[in-house]
Amino acid sequence: MDLDSDRRIIEVARLSESETAVFTATAASETSEGVVMQLSDGSVVAYTNFCPHWQDIRLDRGESALVRDSQLVCRKHGAMFDTDDGVCTHGPCEGAVLDTFATAVHDGSVYLTNDKWDSVERGIEESQSRDLSTDTRIGF
Ligand code: FES
Repeated sequence: MDLDSDRRIIEVARLSESETAVFTATAASETSEGVVMQLSDGSVVAYTNFCPHWQDIRLDRGESALVRDSQLVCRKHGAMFDTDDGVCTHGPCEGAVLDTFATAVHDGSVYLTNDKWDSVERGIEESQSRDLSTDTRIGF
């Protein structure tokens, strides 16, 4: 396993169970956004940043996804995803599973481990404005 510094996402110390950090992974002809967070057992997970219900809707628009009771919550229609496996447990895409990014923790940082990705940067890709929604249909 090659832990390339170009594929380093973030320091583990900056992660928590209550919020996500968004990143953009880049390959030769492809980009993909993900969210990374820490679970209660200290492990780290990374999922796609887009909801399986409407795949242009971001879970994290740059200021953390909504996280409630170990569930990632889509702000659009309220789909809830278990943070430990990405399975949608409630909402219009119940049963769907968030795509996962393979990661590893080394020396206090989280790295993408799939050689497919050339590099990773924190934040969303500004030129990829897929999520045009401004309204939130659920409130907490
Ligand atoms: S877009 Fe996420 S629940 Fe509908």
